[in-house]
Amino acid sequence: MACVVIVGSQWGDEGKGKVVDLLTEDARGIVRFQGGNNAGHTLVVGGEKFIFHLIPSGILHQGKACYIGNGVVVDPQVLLLEMDKLDKRGIPVGPEKLRISDRAHVIMPYHQAMDLAREKAKGKEAIGTTGRGIGPCYEDKSSRVGIRIIDLLEPDVLKAKVEANTKEKNFWLTQYFNEEPLDAEHIFKQYLEYGNLLRDYVGDVPAELNEIYSDGENLLFEGAQGIHLDIDHGTYPYVTSSNPVSGSVSSGAGVGITRIDDVLGIVKAYTTRVGGGPFPTELEDETGAWLGDKGQEFGATTGRPRRCGWLDTVVVRRSVMLAGITGLCVTKLDVLTGLAKLKICTAYKTPEGDVVDTIPASLERLAQCQPVYEEMDGWNEDITGARSLNDLPDNCRTYLDRMAELCGVDLSIVSVGPGRDQTIVLKNPFA
Ligand code: GDP
Ligand code: IMO
Ligand code: MG
Repeated sequence: MACVVIVGSQWGDEGKGKVVDLLTEDARGIVRFQGGNNAGHTLVVGGEKFIFHLIPSGILHQGKACYIGNGVVVDPQVLLLEMDKLDKRGIPVGPEKLRISDRAHVIMPYHQAMDLAREKAKGKEAIGTTGRGIGPCYEDKSSRVGIRIIDLLEPDVLKAKVEANTKEKNFWLTQYFNEEPLDAEHIFKQYLEYGNLLRDYVGDVPAELNEIYSDGENLLFEGAQGIHLDIDHGTYPYVTSSNPVSGSVSSGAGVGITRIDDVLGIVKAYTTRVGGGPFPTELEDETGAWLGDKGQEFGATTGRPRRCGWLDTVVVRRSVMLAGITGLCVTKLDVLTGLAKLKICTAYKTPEGDVVDTIPASLERLAQCQPVYEEMDGWNEDITGARSLNDLPDNCRTYLDRMAELCGVDLSIVSVGPGRDQTIVLKNPFA
């Protein structure tokens, strides 16, 4: 049996969904352990595109169970819509296929209202959140006033909590943010109904996962966001409100850290970021626009254009350290085809002229750091049909090898297109 964790090593959208779908073949359970429907994970299977926000990316496979762990914040409306969409495409999602932790926290309408109101009030200083209520939901969890999935199944508990929380949030919304109040009774009825619809899917996820593990079967954990969006380790405050690092599998799914065998870090062959915050290798020029266009870099959740730039190995090396990454999965290598020269950031230069390998905690200080680049020759050959390293042009091989060398981790998977089959598997962590 093996437990493998997939994490994003940059600022999200590295292609985690594609890799999870690919590795699901060898797993029995596929588990989300943090984040919520701020995530947008895209799969292309048999030419068909699927985008998942809450449902784990293993759902398209037969005979597998997908789990939403307690560390995830669940918007039941989004979840039910996602299930319905799959059903309409001939992929029914029954309670044997999808399990939801009774302890996961629920995103309520006032969370989304607070998220949007706070962002609006921040003006130019806005974080650029997805506006899905993620931060306010985690706030309530930490403040110990959150509503959990189990509460949706207990009408009296739900009613009392909704009334108390709506009252407080309405105070903030109307008195501080000048927004409209929300109706507690309406919310209560709606969420009670969601509870009824989800009842059969709710269970003790840690117990179910540990049983799979005890039976000697494989578990695959699907990280959301990226390590540099981590609330503790990212570019705070331009981060999300959960911990995308691998360590949160334990707190967010209830599977102990001693069970984890491998952590695969997904690395886009260049860098993107959506929303505000520092991005040292950002290209605000023609090349950045070219990458965005060729890589179709638009947010899978909000449709916003993603900011694009060169690969930053200071960022990835730090993720390797923070998440204990044991293998690299390089994605979107094909997007770089056609560029005459490629740059890789190997270090930062401080205003004092020192060349360093650290990301300062101070954003002011980080803004003063300049990326140090290594330049390499590009390639023009179409690589989307490559299925082994030997199929890649020499310059492409050199770029990949240098990536792995600078990140200090061996390559496990190389992705050369969005399709499930457009992949070179060098080392399957479940093998
Ligand atoms: P995630 O959030 O990490 O799962 O990534 P997203 O799904 O938000 O963004 C990755 C995008 O790149 C998706 O549209 C994928 O279909 C696409 N993609 C994944 N791997 C590759 C690849 O190797 N080449 C190309 N061209 N597209 C890819
Ligand atoms: P996946 O799983 C990219 C970003 C938002 C914003 C910041 C905070 O698809 O990689 P939030 O709504 O979480 O409070 O927003 O985090 N963000 C993501 N960026 N990919 C994601 O998920 C993201 N989830 C959140 O754009 O900058
Ligand atoms: Mg995404």
